[in-house]
Amino acid sequence: MLLRKFTWDDIQAIVDLEARSFAVGAYDREDLEAVFSNPDSFNYVAEADGKVVGYVVAIPLDNSSADIESIAVDPGLQRSGLGSSLMSYIEEEMVARGFSISVLEVREKNLEAIAFYQRQGYETTKLLNNYYREYFRDSRHGFRMAKRLK
Ligand SMILES: CC(C)(COP(=O)(O)OP(=O)(O)OC[C@H]1O[C@@H](n2cnc3c(N)ncnc32)[C@H](O)[C@@H]1OP(=O)(O)O)[C@@H](O)C(=O)NCCC(=O)NCCS
Repeated sequence: MLLRKFTWDDIQAIVDLEARSFAVGAYDREDLEAVFSNPDSFNYVAEADGKVVGYVVAIPLDNSSADIESIAVDPGLQRSGLGSSLMSYIEEEMVARGFSISVLEVREKNLEAIAFYQRQGYETTKLLNNYYREYFRDSRHGFRMAKRLK
């Protein structure tokens, strides 16, 4: 498993990974191009046997906090620690860039992702009413979660 930075050669593989990983509301190519072309964004891509199997991308919110825009792991490789590694790498990069708080948004009913984030030390800070366009498990609400970095 190789963790490395995104290159534009990865874009279609990440579009496909999003579609495979998210039941609802996957980023499409246009969304992903907007995130990766933001000059302030930073990321890691996981590669196995030359194939993209995971990624994480973050964008600064303000001087002290950065937001995890998206994280996904190939469904066939979930629950093997890859998501945790991606989170560690992106949080270390946040610290290196001078951020002290990591923030993210998650669907209220994405219980698996919420369990994952809690395991990483994130706590819910806000309910986001009808934050999402599409329903997932009968809800469009979300949570903002945050973690103080060292
Ligand atoms: C969320 C996601 C990135 C986690 O990646 P992962 O590689 O499977 O996570 P890890 O293997 O590092 O999991 C670490 C811990 O998080 C928790 N966790 C992860 N997936 C979980 C699940 N489906 N249900 C319950 N707890 C879960 C567990 O405590 C797990 O430890 P364990 O396997 O020893 O029990 C991955 O499931 C994913 O891509 N999901 C679809 C996309 C998505 O929902 N992204 C987040 C949107 S906000």
